Amino acid sequence: MSGLPSILVVDDDQQNREMLAEALSQVGFEVDMACDGAEALSKANEVMYDAVLSDIRMTPLSGLDLLDFLRKTMPEMPIVLLTAFGSVDTAIQAMKQGAYNYITKPVNLEELVLTMTRAVEYRRLIEDNRTLPRTFSERPRTASLIGQSKKLVEVFKLVGRVSRSRAAVLIQGESGTGKELIARAIHDNSLRATHRFVAVNCSAIPDSLLESELFGHIKGSFTGAHILRRGLLEEASGGTFFLDEVGDLSSVGQAKLLRVLQEGEIRRIGSNESVQVDVRVIAASRRNLADLIEAGRFREDLLYRLNTVNIFIPPLRERPEDIPLLAEFFLARYGDEKEVPVTSFSPAAMRALTGYAWPGNVRELEHVVERAVALASHTILALDDLPSEILRKDGGISNHTHLLPGTLKALQRDQVLRMLESAHGNKERTARLLGISRRTLYRLLDRYDVGKTHASPEADAADPNGS
Ligand SMILES: Nc1ncnc2c1ncn2[C@@H]1O[C@H](COP(=O)(O)OP(=O)(O)OP(=O)(O)O)[C@@H](O)[C@H]1O
Ligand SMILES: [Mg+2]
Repeated sequence: MSGLPSILVVDDDQQNREMLAEALSQVGFEVDMACDGAEALSKANEVMYDAVLSDIRMTPLSGLDLLDFLRKTMPEMPIVLLTAFGSVDTAIQAMKQGAYNYITKPVNLEELVLTMTRAVEYRRLIEDNRTLPRTFSERPRTASLIGQSKKLVEVFKLVGRVSRSRAAVLIQGESGTGKELIARAIHDNSLRATHRFVAVNCSAIPDSLLESELFGHIKGSFTGAHILRRGLLEEASGGTFFLDEVGDLSSVGQAKLLRVLQEGEIRRIGSNESVQVDVRVIAASRRNLADLIEAGRFREDLLYRLNTVNIFIPPLRERPEDIPLLAEFFLARYGDEKEVPVTSFSPAAMRALTGYAWPGNVRELEHVVERAVALASHTILALDDLPSEILRKDGGISNHTHLLPGTLKALQRDQVLRMLESAHGNKERTARLLGISRRTLYRLLDRYDVGKTHASPEADAADPNGS
């Protein structure tokens, strides 16, 4: 199976089954289907799914039977059951028997996706917890945080310093810079590491669900609230509560969150009693919160609460020294999975990676390496294995020219050379890569005096990897 979260959908009604599978795969789950309990069991024995979604009413093996069986053999597998609207008793029975959650029919797709996402996260949390250090003398789990640039090392130091405190931390940085990874590192190195790290993506929860997600609800508090459910804040108690994309929180959501942070307690919907919650709050935002405040879209008082310590993760283009390190790290991660392992980058490929501006930051780099590894047919990754945007005529360079010494002329010359190299000296291809005519290319080669020294086809023949 791929790295996508996987779900087994079990329903004897084919139409239903396919509708559910379709809805889930559309949002990025890898979905497998089974048409009854027996098939579900045999599939679950073969493949490690992240979660199971099953209808209750099936013959001969009902959803509850399936639940029973899976609870015994795979206690950590979250199982979500589908119950007919109004069959409260079965729903309660399902929860008692250890179902992770249930969804009533007719299925609300938003609820379905949210529930399954949480089920999968829950599963991953359990797995993470098993690998947690039991004592703090053990090595902290920051091994997968890669970087040696001055800027990132400063971030790592800050992580170490704030880990042991309870201070609220605000992590800011562009998309894909590693905000969540840093948040987890803080948690893993804190005294709270044996408790949960609960992540909530504020942009994913609509206002209407926010309160019941965060605070939970008691039985009967609203239509559909058939049982008591603890909210995410309560689930995080003792641990860390990670508010991702906090800048996307609506003004209503901001007000509610502020109240919790001020009072340190919550009230489940429908309840008069307050529950103390002891959470360490880490928030992250890809958008600049100061700008949002200026635009009147974020509360200043909330920012003060969140921002005891501020961590800014610089974009990858501002710390190009980290690129080779990260690239090697991802190559090691994905390269080993191949039958013929991919073990290194050609120098030209590495140059292209380091010269690119990475608008999607580390996540983009990871994807590029993963994809290149998947497509590569040699043990060395060459320029040809990289996607075209990395080799595009500006090579992303236009975005970070301030990093490169030299004049525009030098930049242009460098770029022409790079493309020439990637095209193995083939001028027509080079011109196409650069988006210029062949005649313009010849003019440039002439001007920079590179035609004779750099474009020799013999050099290419000696180095099939394009380096
Ligand atoms: N310094 C790093 N070392 C190793 N892996 C990293 C590093 N920074 C980021 N990554 C990896 O890059 C990917 C993106 O990181 P993460 O999800 O933490 O970013 P993010 O800032 O939360 O992004 P977004 O704003 O898009 O949610 C993850 O797979 C993460 O493991
Ligand atoms: Mg994130």
